[in-house]
Amino acid sequence: MPSIDLSDLRVLVLGGSGVLGSSIARELASAGARVMLAGRDADRLQAAASAIGRDVPSVLFDLREPHHADHVVDTAIARLGGLDGIVNAAGVVAFGPFRELSDETLDDVAQTDFLGPLRVMQRAVNRMDGGFFVHLTGVVAERPMPGMAIYSAAKAGLAAASAALVRELRRDGFHVLDARPPHTKTGLATRPIAGTAPGMPEGLDPAHVARIVVEALRSGARELPAEAFSPA
Ligand SMILES: NC(=O)c1ccc[n+]([C@@H]2O[C@H](COP(=O)([O-])OP(=O)(O)OC[C@H]3O[C@@H](n4cnc5c(N)ncnc54)[C@H](OP(=O)(O)O)[C@@H]3O)[C@@H](O)[C@H]2O)c1
Repeated sequence: MPSIDLSDLRVLVLGGSGVLGSSIARELASAGARVMLAGRDADRLQAAASAIGRDVPSVLFDLREPHHADHVVDTAIARLGGLDGIVNAAGVVAFGPFRELSDETLDDVAQTDFLGPLRVMQRAVNRMDGGFFVHLTGVVAERPMPGMAIYSAAKAGLAAASAALVRELRRDGFHVLDARPPHTKTGLATRPIAGTAPGMPEGLDPAHVARIVVEALRSGARELPAEAFSPA
């Protein structure tokens, strides 16, 4: 596994306004990368960008809108002068009995957590000259949970696509990392698009999760199973 030198790499962070996305962006910037943040809310993006440093660019986009995939990739290439990697730390969660989930919830989770990230990745692969992709899928990709069927399915689907693309894209100079962190204290479970979170164990520290993801990327790892996040 060849290691990756992150200094001066140009990296787009989808979900860069979120807790894990902004923590990973900060780690990448500390390693010398030039980051750009993407999300749906201008104020949250601006706050996350200024916390990382001066002149960190950002772009508004929505993973549920197919035509935004071209827009976010093209904007990153224009603002960063090229693109070497994408970290997908965007996502939503839905809870509740499967039989009660609305069509809108099913569509939102499938687009945001599964199809949207793959669409962005496909557009990027066609414009980049090699590089890396990181997907934050999650422990549910390994251990699907009752009451979280659509979220588990979307994350397991994205993990499966990542595993296939590790091999399919290797010869074109692309590296793919599937990171599957366990429950992390970001507040995501308190912001579901449907239902209410079941009782959860104490979550991990987001800064710890971000460090492990960036270290794994640097080392050239292709997957980070949930157990790799256990605190030392
Ligand atoms: N927290 C955990 O326990 C945990 C565990 C394993 C994996 N993960 C995964 O890690 C990722 C980050 O989660 P987090 O815990 O850091 O949650 P978070 O703070 O709520 O971050 C989620 C990010 O996704 C963005 N987002 C949501 N819907 C979007 C859409 N339709 N288009 C574009 N951006 C969208 C949000 O931006 P705006 O809402 O501002 O647009 C925000 O930046 C998610 O994929 C999550 O599934 C989390």
